[in-house]
Amino acid sequence: MTLTRPDIDFIHIKDISWIELPLPGGNMPTRMKPLSRDSETGGVTAIVEYPPGFERSGGAYNTADEDIFYLSGEITVGGHQFGKYSYTFHPEGELRAPVRSESGVTFLASFSSKPDWHLSDTPGPQYEAARAVHYLDSLNTKWQNTRLVEFPAGSARKALRDDPKALQWVAVTGLLPQWVSPFTEWHTFSEEIFVLEGSITTTEGTMEPGAYLSHPPEDVHGPMHSTDGCLFFVLLRGPINNTYDPVDGYRIPIE
Ligand SMILES: [Fe+2]
Repeated sequence: MTLTRPDIDFIHIKDISWIELPLPGGNMPTRMKPLSRDSETGGVTAIVEYPPGFERSGGAYNTADEDIFYLSGEITVGGHQFGKYSYTFHPEGELRAPVRSESGVTFLASFSSKPDWHLSDTPGPQYEAARAVHYLDSLNTKWQNTRLVEFPAGSARKALRDDPKALQWVAVTGLLPQWVSPFTEWHTFSEEIFVLEGSITTTEGTMEPGAYLSHPPEDVHGPMHSTDGCLFFVLLRGPINNTYDPVDGYRIPIE
């Protein structure tokens, strides 16, 4: 099933209000900034913040897949210490370990469908252990060439998770300064992008750290460029096919 999100291009987290996030097993209130929600599946992407001293007992699983990319602070989860730009993936049904954050922590979380917690001492029946990514430090993950042959040169990818069966693809992507994509483009997958460093300028404006966009399948966007380089977190859902059409005369403007 291809999961889609609404067309959001683009928003910045500074313009989104915090709302309370009730979490079963938590020792104090937590909060979130919602980024997108799939009206069909209930899947959500949000920035989540746990306050200093936050603890949460284990003994629960969720019926949705959850990708987590840490942005700041530190947290211990199941024996792993997560910090800035580390990543984990909890497939549906995974029994969650207890968590503790001395410093407080902020992360991007994306659920493939409506988050639904079940208290349990065992994993859910849908759990596939081989899908889990327990800990990945993206700072020390090797760069690879991008998988999209049409993607303009000057970019590279740190694969966090490729799941051809579930049609989910998660990565950190880097763009060199002066990278240009003089094309309109559309995809057979949905894409979500969260800017971590640098900037990228599209027809909608310049996305800086904290900016987020969501393109549903077949949404036409571009052209775009990055004057100073860019690092972003990207999550794709659906079959990988792209259509690029050249835009004559598109170039980086002289400032
Ligand atoms: Fe795109």
